[in-house]
Amino acid sequence: MRLRPAVVVFAGVVGFLWSSPVTAQTPTFSKDVAPILYKNCSQCHRPNEVAPMSLMTYDEVRPWARSIKSKVVKKEMPPWGVGRSTLDFSNDRRMSDKEIATLVAWVDGGAPRGRDADLPSPPSYPGGWKFNVEPDVVVKMPVEFKVEPRSEYPMLDFYVPVPWTDGMKLIQMSEARPSNKAVVHHITVSLVTFPPGTEVIDGQPFTTDASGKKVPLDRRLARITEQRLPAELQIPREPGEKPDRLSSVGGFTTLLAYVAGRGFDDHPDGVGTPALPGQYINFNMHYTPTGRVEYDRSEVGFWFVKGEPKKFHFRTPINERQAVNGKIVRGEIPDAADVEAGRVSQGATAATISAFSGLPPIPPHEANFTVTSELKITQDITINGFYPHMHVRGKSAEYKIVFPDGREQLLFDVPRYRFDWQERYVLAAPLKIPNGSLLKYKGVFDNSAENPLNPNPDKEVYWSEQSWDEMSLGWIEYTLDKQKLKK
Ligand code: HEC
Repeated sequence: MRLRPAVVVFAGVVGFLWSSPVTAQTPTFSKDVAPILYKNCSQCHRPNEVAPMSLMTYDEVRPWARSIKSKVVKKEMPPWGVGRSTLDFSNDRRMSDKEIATLVAWVDGGAPRGRDADLPSPPSYPGGWKFNVEPDVVVKMPVEFKVEPRSEYPMLDFYVPVPWTDGMKLIQMSEARPSNKAVVHHITVSLVTFPPGTEVIDGQPFTTDASGKKVPLDRRLARITEQRLPAELQIPREPGEKPDRLSSVGGFTTLLAYVAGRGFDDHPDGVGTPALPGQYINFNMHYTPTGRVEYDRSEVGFWFVKGEPKKFHFRTPINERQAVNGKIVRGEIPDAADVEAGRVSQGATAATISAFSGLPPIPPHEANFTVTSELKITQDITINGFYPHMHVRGKSAEYKIVFPDGREQLLFDVPRYRFDWQERYVLAAPLKIPNGSLLKYKGVFDNSAENPLNPNPDKEVYWSEQSWDEMSLGWIEYTLDKQKLKK
């Protein structure tokens, strides 16, 4: 460790001596470096964004020159998690060797400013939104929430009615933003259909009990069954065909999650999550108090499918058959009675049991707790993206496919999973998955003291939504090949 700064300085000096005679070739900030930073860094390194400093102007970048060189040479910046892979990703942030060499040569050449006339115009982010264009609709939390200086908060739910009245929209892109980053640990935004007779007051759902009294609605009732789905949401089936879980549109659909590294979601052209007037937008908030009184009113922006709607966007975790350290522990999705009786997990709700299977307890100090899960593919689908999700003990993730002919292929792995930097991996080209394939997901957990994020290696860890408990979810994002949407 000690040696590293000396080596960097030494290399810098050598580089400087070598490159200084050829000044004409030394890259300059204005001409060579700014375009690279605008393309590869500024989406995070700009004011009010996720990175700790802005890298937009020469004066902002210059003090970081040495650190930038070190981070890009070690490929720690821009962040990117994929290791081995047989797929290409459209959000692959890795820079080309040429771009890295230009940054290194610039730093080694003394980080010159160059001529202002060469400077390209910086990228603009209208209203600060990631997708460079204002959303079609912005929905804010129904109330400004007061975050008291206390030790912790449970997950809190707020509901806002879908604000449009002109029929179904397909949400193609969305972005969630806290108004107060300091206290928002994460936001999950979902679409919810309440049972008839539900009344939402100040963002909280109420129903009327048998005696006519207004009582809070059980959160688990925030869903509809297939039978009650409006016609627009029904997926056409062959006569006699049973619904399968791959084409189930529930009354509770998660749209996106905001955590460090995430907070926006996008699908291919024509593809989106269906949302109907009468449904509610659910902000599931996890606040982390700062020690002072704070306020937050988070918001979500939606961009709808323009032009011809093609497909519904679906997502599901690979979770049907589960094995721990190679031994099968679960053959099917847990049943509601188990969840009800607390036998599966704390925190699981009826709305989530179809999506989350309970994670068997992780023993204290176990450094390589390996959970493998499978999902049988029961119709032709096309995968557009992946989202591996674990909490602070997550260590690595891996996706594989077994084709109907028995051929097994690695899709990709994430060798160093980071809870504090989660990523959705979006495919550059859609991946066709034929009926009869098997998808496999492996999540490895480190509950030992070696894991710097582990709050308590002595603890046996259970499934729950809280980040100090665990989850093992290998999400896939897909469309159904047979679905046709009429205009
Ligand atoms: C997707 C978001 C994202 C992108 C893109 C990104 N960064 Fe970062 N960067 C971060 C975050 C978040 C941190 C702080 C946490 C960390 O180090 O992981 C960071 C930290 C850094 C640091 C260390 C700062 C310190 O406090 O020591 C440097 C240097 C850096 N980035 C340079 C770059 C450069 C150069 C690029 C482009 C070539 C880039 N980053 C692209 C998000 C990003």
